[in-house]
Amino acid sequence: MKKINTAVFPVAGLGTRFLPATKAAPKEMLPVVDKPLIQYAVEEAYAAGIRHMVFVTGRNKRAIEDHFDTAYELENELQTQGKQALLDLVRSVQPSDMDCTYVRQSHALGLGHAVLCAEHLTGGAPFAVLLADDLMIGPAGGASVLAQMVQAYERLGNSVIAVQEVPQDQVRRYGIVVGQPDGERLLNISQIVEKPTPEKAPSRMAVAGRYILTNAVYEQIRQQPRGAGGEIQLTDGIAGLLHHERVHAYQYEGKRYDCGSKEGFLEATVELALQHPEVGAGFRDYLRALNVKI
Ligand code: G1P
Repeated sequence: MKKINTAVFPVAGLGTRFLPATKAAPKEMLPVVDKPLIQYAVEEAYAAGIRHMVFVTGRNKRAIEDHFDTAYELENELQTQGKQALLDLVRSVQPSDMDCTYVRQSHALGLGHAVLCAEHLTGGAPFAVLLADDLMIGPAGGASVLAQMVQAYERLGNSVIAVQEVPQDQVRRYGIVVGQPDGERLLNISQIVEKPTPEKAPSRMAVAGRYILTNAVYEQIRQQPRGAGGEIQLTDGIAGLLHHERVHAYQYEGKRYDCGSKEGFLEATVELALQHPEVGAGFRDYLRALNVKI
């Protein structure tokens, strides 16, 4: 079985839900406490053993490339000032055994199209897709969500998609799957649909932004017509894949923050701040003293 060594990060989206913050800055660079969203996703992939990161970018996304590159002036300055801890922190963003590749998605035609832009960079092997908007925190002391999925892929040898149950009134925001239980936390998927209405949704099992996909998904995406919202949907590519291969849904262990929405972003900020080694204790005291009346 081929090892998962490449992760694709679709980061060309406009981030309109965070305007005006995202007018000139990529939404993936918005920080939760002290780290940009995209770095959480890259670290999750790295923790899952992946060393080749492919970013599908667009206009206004230069800051992402700079973030994962050497910051010569900054590093030089920190070195001169003898600020070794900060220098190590800056350098840790880009481990020496990690490669980053960038490809542009020049038209916003949808998530499926974004993934297709990476085809020539995933080497004909199965690959991971991570949507940085979904900030995933694994269980305390346990494996990251993508690492759990890689383990499932290594057992099953087919595509694996992260899922979680959502309330009925939220199904229209997600890809929704139906499947038969097939081992711990696993469903053998029989159906997947993108953003159904609550009336038409075949279940409440929603796709979270983590995928391990076989190379065959590209051919499906190429062949399919436009889907929900007139976009080339990744969900439809996976639906096509089901005619040829097994695909499993994996109910991950951990927590997902929908940082594509302001509410989810705020929840992530508060919860991760409380856990932060430097500011956590002080922030807890601050929240207590705030004594919010609701
Ligand atoms: C995308 C996918 C959807 C998935 C969701 C997870 O939607 O198309 O199937 O459930 O990510 O966050 P988006 O949030 O980009 O509209």
